[in-house]
Amino acid sequence: MNTHRLSFPQVELDFMNRDHQEFAELREKLLERIATGTTAGIDVMLDELHAHTMRHFADEEKVMLETDFPVFAVHKGEHDSVLTDMAQRIAHWKQHGDIESLCHWLDHAVGDWLVAHIGSMDTVTARFAAAKLGS
Ligand SMILES: [Fe+2]
Repeated sequence: MNTHRLSFPQVELDFMNRDHQEFAELREKLLERIATGTTAGIDVMLDELHAHTMRHFADEEKVMLETDFPVFAVHKGEHDSVLTDMAQRIAHWKQHGDIESLCHWLDHAVGDWLVAHIGSMDTVTARFAAAKLGS
């Protein structure tokens, strides 16, 4: 079942491509679990997605700082707002158990955001950093 599979471009740094693929797979696994009609394991999977996203963003931000990426603040600002939203969505789910709202958020907002972010900020960041690092 690949109805939730995302299509996104590859960027010029391998570690970012690996993180994007892992993120997409965690989201897909969550949507597949939700589609089975069970809520078992969803809390753990959401915590895993949140922890992965924090680490994934921190790694990108480290490279941006190391290479003096000129619009670091803009890229980091988007990361910060995504993490805030993610934490609120997970907390809301844990408190209210609203599976429809969780599913809709993962399916639409998270998927759309990831594809748009990779195609814009991550592409530009990776191109800049790869040129500066000589990779
Ligand atoms: Fe990013």
